[in-house]
Amino acid sequence: MTTIEAPRSPKPARTRRRGINGEKWGWIYMRASGLVLVILIFGHLFVNLVSGKGVNAIDFAFVAGKLADPFWVVWDTLLLWLALIHGSNGIRTLINDYTRTPLTRRILLIAVATATAVLLILGTLVIYTFDPCPAGAAANLVPSFCQGR
Ligand code: HEM
Repeated sequence: MTTIEAPRSPKPARTRRRGINGEKWGWIYMRASGLVLVILIFGHLFVNLVSGKGVNAIDFAFVAGKLADPFWVVWDTLLLWLALIHGSNGIRTLINDYTRTPLTRRILLIAVATATAVLLILGTLVIYTFDPCPAGAAANLVPSFCQGR
């Protein structure tokens, strides 16, 4: 007769690993970031699409106004970092589950890590260096609210 071990039975001492359990913290991160993302995403959608004049208010000046406010700078930074790392860690799980050869797995994981790093750097740069009225820009290239500055 074959005996199947209970799923939670302790691993034999030989294979028990020491140190930080990355997969466990990844699992916890998906749940914790998911909870915070519910607030960040629905807050973002409500303020941009529902409150005030709703979607009709969205234009360059609307975005410039939001990024001039430290509250939205912090909100957008959290949204960017938590969602991107959540999404790429989720895709990492799918790649680990479904790739059939170590080479495919390696290539896809490097592609996802590269895309994530590039997007985090570009997104963060946009949030912190965005200037709607760059000094010296031609008047016809900047919005009307920049006149006189
Ligand atoms: C309302 C906000 C969100 C909540 C509550 C949430 C929650 C979760 C949870 C709990 C998991 C783990 C599922 C599992 O391990 O079986 C997960 C997986 C995942 N999430 Fe999210 N998430 C949210 C937003 C997002 C966003 C914005 C993205 C994309 C950037 C995303 C992409 C993914 C991916 C790719 C996975 C892996 C799918 C899988 O394992 O089958 N999620 N999400």
